[in-house]
Formats: sequence, C-alpha cells, structure tokens
Amino acid sequence: MSDLMQTFPVKRIIEHGPGVKSFYFDRMTDAVAGQFVNVWLPGIDEKPYSVSALGEDWLEISVKAYGVFSGAMMKLKVGDLVGIRGPFGKGFTFRDNALIIGGGIGIAPLRILARELSERNFRFVSLLGAATAHEVIFVDDFRRRSSNCYVTTDDGTLGKKGLVTDDLLEIIKKEKIEFVYAAGPEIMFVKIKELIDPLGIAYEFCLERYMKCGIGICGQCTLDGSGIRLCVEGPVLNQDDLKAVTELGLPHRDASGRRV
Ligand SMILES: Cc1cc2nc3c(=O)[nH]c(=O)nc-3n(C[C@H](O)[C@H](O)[C@H](O)COP(=O)(O)OP(=O)(O)OC[C@H]3O[C@@H](n4cnc5c(N)ncnc54)[C@H](O)[C@@H]3O)c2cc1C
Ligand code: FES
Repeated sequence: MSDLMQTFPVKRIIEHGPGVKSFYFDRMTDAVAGQFVNVWLPGIDEKPYSVSALGEDWLEISVKAYGVFSGAMMKLKVGDLVGIRGPFGKGFTFRDNALIIGGGIGIAPLRILARELSERNFRFVSLLGAATAHEVIFVDDFRRRSSNCYVTTDDGTLGKKGLVTDDLLEIIKKEKIEFVYAAGPEIMFVKIKELIDPLGIAYEFCLERYMKCGIGICGQCTLDGSGIRLCVEGPVLNQDDLKAVTELGLPHRDASGRRV
C-alpha cells in the first residue's frame, strides 16, 4: 500500500451498539499498532482512522459517530467502495509490564497493540473506560490477552462507575507497572501525565489532530511548541516528545489550520 488512494469494498461490519462500528476490508497493507489509514468517502471528506486489528487477510478500523464523516461511515453497507491510503505515522514501541489505558474509541489502536504485545509474550494489564458498556469495544479480547483487565464506565453499565484515572495510581502500584500506553480523549492524557510524571514512569500516548495530507506536507497537524507533525512524527508520542508540546489538552487547529 502507499500514499496513493485506492478503493476497497467493505467486507464485513460489526455493530458494537448505537453509533460504534468496526469495518473490515481485505488486508491491503501491513501496519503496526498506532499507525493509521486515511479513509475517503467520495463527495464527503477524507479522515484518519487507526488500524484497530489485522488478520491474515483482513484489516479492521473501528469508528464512533461524532459528526458528518463518521456519521456517513455508519451508513456504509457491505460491498460499498471506500478509498483507503496508508498506513501512516509512527506506532508504539513494545514494552514489558505495561499498562494499556483506553478511553472511548481510543481503545481502537490499543486492540492491535494488545495483540502485538501478547504475541511477543509481554505481560500487560488493561484499563479501559468509556461512556457506556457497548463503547468498551472488544473487551473480551482484552480480558483474554491481558494479565488483568479493569473496566470503568461513566454510567456504571460495565465495570466500575467512574473514570479510568480514578484508581490509576493504585493499579500501577498493585500491578507493578513499568510503562504506560494510552489512547483516548486529550483530557485523559493530561490527567494521566499529571499522575504518572511524578513516578518517573515512561509512556506513549496516541494523539489525534485534524489531518489533511497525512504525509507531512501541509503542516495542518503540527503541534505548537514542538514542530512535531503528528501524521509523520506521531501519532504516538512519548514523554520526551511531549515535553516541548505546549497545546496538550488545549484548543488546537481547526480544519482551516487556524487555532481555535
Ligand atoms: C491519527 C488519528 C487516528 C484516529 N483514529 C480514529 C479511530 O480509530 N476511530 C474513530 O472513531 N476516530 C478516529 N480518529 C478521529 C477521526 O479522524 C475523526 O476526526 C472522527 O471520526 C470525527 O470526524 P467527523 O467528521 O465525523 O466529526 P467532526 O465534524 O470532525 O466532529 C464533530 C464534533 O465531534 C467532536 N469530536 C470529533 N472527534 C472526537 C473525539 N474523538 N472525541 C470527542 N469529540 C470528538 C468535534 O470536536 C466536533 O465538535 C482518529 C484521528 C486521528 C488524527
Ligand atoms: S496532515 Fe499534513 S502535515 Fe500532517
């Protein structure tokens, strides 16, 4: 696969619950955990989505409905043609004794990470949270692969009622965690960072920004303070990369490139 757009039919769709679906295509590319593909719906737009799993002959992305594009994704049917280019970006590194923290649809890139860690026989614990039960996607897969899997939901429909950060320090201590991976809302990264920076634990976060080219040309996804182009030097950034970033958890560029 390359940065040139090609079209592929949707092979299968799983509906996790209202507004959350996984889409399957023929495996058109390799990808490592954390990398993303740009998906094009003709006449609508092109948006980045993490590769959430790879099988021998299939590639999966998982989408939550927010606005126009993801709303249109929800209307796709098996056999519909979708443009895909990629994979793009830099993925996660593989570490032992890690904690995987996923918030909402941020769980998507962690599903492929969990597979890659377990295939390497690395020990890891999962801590997954979302607004409600069906948004904790593929929870059984995480339960099977992790040495322990903690779940929280905002409404208490699965696991403990609350946020993934509520018991974070206790879990890190109890599970003897040496490294943290996270993907989810940016406010979650801010809180995790605040809690674990004093412990000196290293981490990698999978960030999101409005992207256009996906290949480092347009500058749309550049992070203030650092000059990091998230589509090339990210979307996975570590604690050292993040030291220079001045916009974590703050308003950032809109579709026009303007800061909002
Ligand atoms: C590298 C990368 C990987 C991504 N991977 C995934 C993925 O695996 N699955 C997925 O569903 N999306 C993923 N996204 C987000 C995706 O590209 C779109 O931005 C998202 O689907 C919303 O697009 P939209 O046009 O439907 O909504 P927009 O019109 O862009 O947004 C509508 C409203 O929802 C808000 N919104 C948009 N996204 C989020 C969010 N994630 N959390 C909270 N509010 C939000 C916006 O601020 C806006 O107010 C990824 C983004 C990047 C940069
Ligand atoms: S999206 Fe164009 S440089 Fe990143």
